[in-house]
Amino acid sequence: MKITVRVWRQPNAQAEGRMVSYDVDEVSTDMSFLEMLDVLNERLTLRGEDPIAFDSDCREGICGMCGVVINGEAHGPVQTTTCQLQMRSFSDGDVIDIEPWRADAFPVVKDLVVDRSAFDRIIQSGGYISAPTGAAPDSHAMPIPKDDADTAFDAATCIGCGACVAACPNGSAMLFTGAKITHLGLMPQGQPERDSRVIGMVSAHDEEGFGGCTNIGECAAVCPKEIPLQVISRLNRDMLHALSRCSNVSD
Ligand code: SF4
Ligand code: FES
Repeated sequence: MKITVRVWRQPNAQAEGRMVSYDVDEVSTDMSFLEMLDVLNERLTLRGEDPIAFDSDCREGICGMCGVVINGEAHGPVQTTTCQLQMRSFSDGDVIDIEPWRADAFPVVKDLVVDRSAFDRIIQSGGYISAPTGAAPDSHAMPIPKDDADTAFDAATCIGCGACVAACPNGSAMLFTGAKITHLGLMPQGQPERDSRVIGMVSAHDEEGFGGCTNIGECAAVCPKEIPLQVISRLNRDMLHALSRCSNVSD
């Protein structure tokens, strides 16, 4: 295939960015989207031009490092990670726009790379448990209802890619935060910090500049791990519960 990509180029966080067009020929339908960018970067390097900066690591959908907006959609036309998107999803002659995540809380570092350390700070403010470490406990020592275990596991599959934020018109990270609250809040080990966790993580979410959730649902529609909107309901329920306990204690 021969395609044209229009890529957001921005030398650094302070500089102005712009879309730059590149023709890419000999693109195989068996290539991944990132391999197509690798090929383009090799050609740019051989021509003495600056290669396009983008993030990736595992390239198998588990680390959460990759993520760009492709033709206006976070991670592109298929509900998967950018690294698992294949060029067979495109056609010969296509013009493909590639932009970084657009959100105030994710400032552009260079080209398609954004700073997602705001997610780390949300995790630091409550995404942990205080259970003592040591030898691995027996697998059946602490019975957990199957539904709770399954829901917690599904929430734990969030890879922190940030597509939910990029897709949300409010730039909200409530799907990400709700996934962490659900994952830990359903486990017996997560109970001691359950109240402080939700208050701490939601406060950090707001302080980082993420917007509020207005139930639009774009986040869940692009999430490569199919995290459901119910995690946000659970977050809201935990928040109300935590606040009512705080006010009861102060009464
Ligand atoms: S909730 Fe989904 S889209 Fe958001 S960070 Fe987690 S895996 Fe990515
Ligand atoms: S590079 Fe790890 S999820 Fe895409």
